[in-house]
Parts: sequence; C-alpha cells; structure tokens
Amino acid sequence: MKQKLISVLISGFLLIGCLTGCNNGDVTSSGTEGNSPSSTTTDPSSSEGENSGAETSAPAFDFESKTVTLNSGYEMPIMGLGTYSLSDEECYNSVTALLEAGGRLVDTAHIYGNEAAVGRAIRDSDIPREEIFVITKLYPNQFANAEGAIEEALEKLGIGYIDMMLLHHPGDNDVEAYKVMEQAVEEGKIHSIGLSNWYVEELTEFLPQVTITPALVQNEIHPYYQENDVIPFIQEKGIVVQGWYPFGGRGHTAELLGDEVISAIAEDHNVTSAQVILLWNLQKGVVVIPGSSNPDHIRENLDLFGFELTDEEMERINALNRGEKHDWY
Ligand SMILES: NC(=O)c1ccc[n+]([C@@H]2O[C@H](COP(=O)([O-])OP(=O)(O)OC[C@H]3O[C@@H](n4cnc5c(N)ncnc54)[C@H](OP(=O)(O)O)[C@@H]3O)[C@@H](O)[C@H]2O)c1
Repeated sequence: MKQKLISVLISGFLLIGCLTGCNNGDVTSSGTEGNSPSSTTTDPSSSEGENSGAETSAPAFDFESKTVTLNSGYEMPIMGLGTYSLSDEECYNSVTALLEAGGRLVDTAHIYGNEAAVGRAIRDSDIPREEIFVITKLYPNQFANAEGAIEEALEKLGIGYIDMMLLHHPGDNDVEAYKVMEQAVEEGKIHSIGLSNWYVEELTEFLPQVTITPALVQNEIHPYYQENDVIPFIQEKGIVVQGWYPFGGRGHTAELLGDEVISAIAEDHNVTSAQVILLWNLQKGVVVIPGSSNPDHIRENLDLFGFELTDEEMERINALNRGEKHDWY
C-alpha cells in the first residue's frame, strides 16, 4: 500500500504542468448531466446492502489525477476548500479563487448559510458543472423533514444535482433522514451520500440500519487530534475519510502552524507548515478541505505535489497526537 502510494506520488511529481489542478477552467462547455460514475467501477447500487461491517479496503488516492474513486463510483478531488464561517461575499470570492486556481472540491452545509454563494460562484465560473464536486450537509434540525431539506439545498445551490450530501451530526431521525437521501440518490438528485461526526461506536450502530454504504465520513482530524483508531476503521469499509479543522480550526491555527516539529519539516522542504499538514493528511489517505478567505492561502493549499514526506517525517508528525479535540462534535 505504502509502495503504491509512493509510486503514485512519484508519478504525480512528473506532472509538473499540473501542479494546481488538472484543468485550469479553460473548457467552456456547460454540461449539466453530471459526471458519471467511473467506468472502472460498478454501478453506484453495487455498494448497497453490504453494511454488516464487511471489510473491503481503503479507496486509494490517485496522486496523478488528484482524485479518489468513491464506493459510489464517482470520482472526487482529494483536496479542496472548506467554507465554514465564510460570509456570502467571502464564500463567493473564495470559491471563485479556488476554481481559478484549479481546485474543484467545495465543502459547504445548510448550517453555514452559504450554499447559495457557493452555487453562484460555480454558475459564474466557466467551468463545466461535472468537473466540480460539491459537498453539502443536512443539519439535525432538518432530519425530520429531510425531503424538504434536500429540495431546499438543491434550490439554494442551483447547480442541478448535489455531488455529495452528508448528515452533519448524529441526531434524532438520522436513520430516517439517511434513507431519504438514499431515495434522492435513486432519483439522481444526489450522487453520493455520507456522514459527518460519526465515530466507531456510532458507525457500528448506524451502518447495519441503512442500505447504501456511506461514500465518505468527515470528522475532525489534525496533528493534535489524529483519530488513529477511527481512520482505519472507516477506510477498511471502503469508505473515504475526510478531515475537518486540518489546521486545528480558528483560534488554534497559530499554534499548529507554528508547531516546532511541523515548522522544521516545512523548512527542510522549503514549503509552508500548512502544506506539510495537508500532505501529511493525504499520505494517510485523508481528503483535505482547509477553510480560507485568502486567495493566496487557497492557492498554497492546492500546491501539495512538489514534495513528499518521508516515513520518518510522517512518524514525527504522528507523534504530535494529543487526542486534543478542538470542537464538541
Ligand atoms: N463536519 C463538520 O462538523 C465540520 C466542522 C468544522 C469544519 N468543517 C469543514 O472543514 C473545513 C475546514 O475547517 P475550518 O475552515 O473551520 O478550519 P481550518 O481549515 O483548520 O482553519 C481555517 C483557518 O486557517 C487559515 N488558513 C487557511 N489556509 C492557510 C494557510 N495556507 N496559511 C495560514 N493560514 C491558513 C484560515 O485563515 P485565512 O482565511 O486567512 O486563510 C482560517 O483562519 C470548514 O471550512 C468546513 O468546510 C466541518
């Protein structure tokens, strides 16, 4: 696995002309039919009915295309932009900066209040819809009327379909809400579905109750809170892991980005601490969605393929784990 990772990393390095994304937005067709599931994988429904916890394997990252193929059959970029706490204007500008820099993955949520701004930035770009991957989330207070909430998200985003919808947190009626998302997959309104803030215990209870295996679980992951027990548990089920708060979240970024170990590794590679943290995630098979309202940071956070962390450097960062959660969920 490690060798495979390294070999794909090396091939990634050869793609010098593709450092900030595989397409610079110069394609102007505006397909709205959506990206199809990969032809190398089976129909999305192939992931149905296998939720007894059966072990498969972690979906491998393709460092050349900078994507991972989800168990739903769809391809998702492995790094993108988080939009938590961004105002409408900041969000519109950040998504625009991301798309211009070649980034194609955006994470939003009903509770962030900026789905409409995400959709507007996407519609205003000349990038074909099917090249962009948008994740949004249903908040627990929407679970009782998930059908209406999905329609609301579709309307606010205004980009045809939703690439990925997650349940934001466990809560009352979560199984029922997930089943409504399964129905929306059947209807083509949503391509892939998943969970956020589900850990080992919650997943063990939840998975046997649903039909479509989640394609993704999004949880808090950073060098001070590494979830080393949870990540393999999820990946072994063929589910992709995505981390939130890669820099520790606002209020903690200075400490994490200024960490002595991370700063020393960054200096050795002539990169930034932010880039080291993001690549550490990718080399662990964790998709990254750093939040930013700064176009320079957004470009920097996409530029992760000119260096590689050695096993020893990965171990030094792994040793920083303090089990220190920076938010309650
Ligand atoms: N599912 C969940 O429950 C959940 C919870 C929290 C977050 N999330 C998702 O995860 C995403 C990431 O979390 P987050 O945005 O809250 O926190 P974060 O990514 O850990 O940190 C964001 C902070 O890092 C700074 N930053 C970004 N790039 C930088 C760089 N290259 N150098 C220096 N500073 C940099 C940003 O400042 P600038 O604006 O100045 O760049 C911002 O203050 C969210 O946006 C959201 O999409 C999900």
